Amino acid sequence: MKILVFWDVYWRIWRKALEKELPLLKQKYNPDFVIVNIENATWWRWPIESHAIELEKLWIDVMTSWDHIFDNEEKIKDFLDKQDSKLIRPMNFYESDDFILPWKGYKIVEKNSEKLLVINLMSETFMKFNVFNPFIEIQEFLKNFKQDYDAVIVDFHKEVSSEAYWLWYLLDWKVSLIYGTHTHMQTNDENILDNWTWIISDVWMVWPFPSVIWAEFSSLKKRFLTWIWKWKIEQSLNNKYVVNWLFVEIKDWKCIDIEKIRVRNSLV
Ligand SMILES: [Fe+2]
Repeated sequence: MKILVFWDVYWRIWRKALEKELPLLKQKYNPDFVIVNIENATWWRWPIESHAIELEKLWIDVMTSWDHIFDNEEKIKDFLDKQDSKLIRPMNFYESDDFILPWKGYKIVEKNSEKLLVINLMSETFMKFNVFNPFIEIQEFLKNFKQDYDAVIVDFHKEVSSEAYWLWYLLDWKVSLIYGTHTHMQTNDENILDNWTWIISDVWMVWPFPSVIWAEFSSLKKRFLTWIWKWKIEQSLNNKYVVNWLFVEIKDWKCIDIEKIRVRNSLV
């Protein structure tokens, strides 16, 4: 089973970057599945439905999301809640009998006689949210999940690498790959534990280049010189981009290869 993983396809120029690069990648890597994070596909918070639909059409199998997914709830909840929605959200948000959030934190996709389970999980350390303990939540989920699958991938949205590593230890032999997201800095730590589960603690993003993640340099001047955070940040309108992604191969449940790939290109 071959998989391409992208995360943080940020704003409209970078949605176009994905549209441009994906056919080339598909040709080169011949993946069975493509997983893409779309949390900031509209702006630096929230995807809206029309942008999720735009990305859904690009030969994408699962779209993951994270801490911003409900920032604009009204504009995404119907899409998120569709029975066949490709978009999932972290599974460990607080929910109760009194209030259930739209859709769910996992999805099984099936293609070429292979079934892939994708799980979206989030930590609360240094985040602005409180969520159920991700370690307890995923153990309970995997223990009780009864459907068949051939591989499991966990998108773990977190700030601290220690949590990613401990999740790796906890889930070794239970999942094929854990990849970390949210810190916007690709790590050089892809590794395998006991010849079974791979990890990379941050994948990085599809981003405007050069910029501060996505922000135009000069628009940050007042913030960084004064530490006053009220100043507006401008989006970088640069047509150049860097695409970072992972190519992953899984065989007999085990992850056997992981490759970090970077493309620098321009829309014009
Ligand atoms: Fe995030």
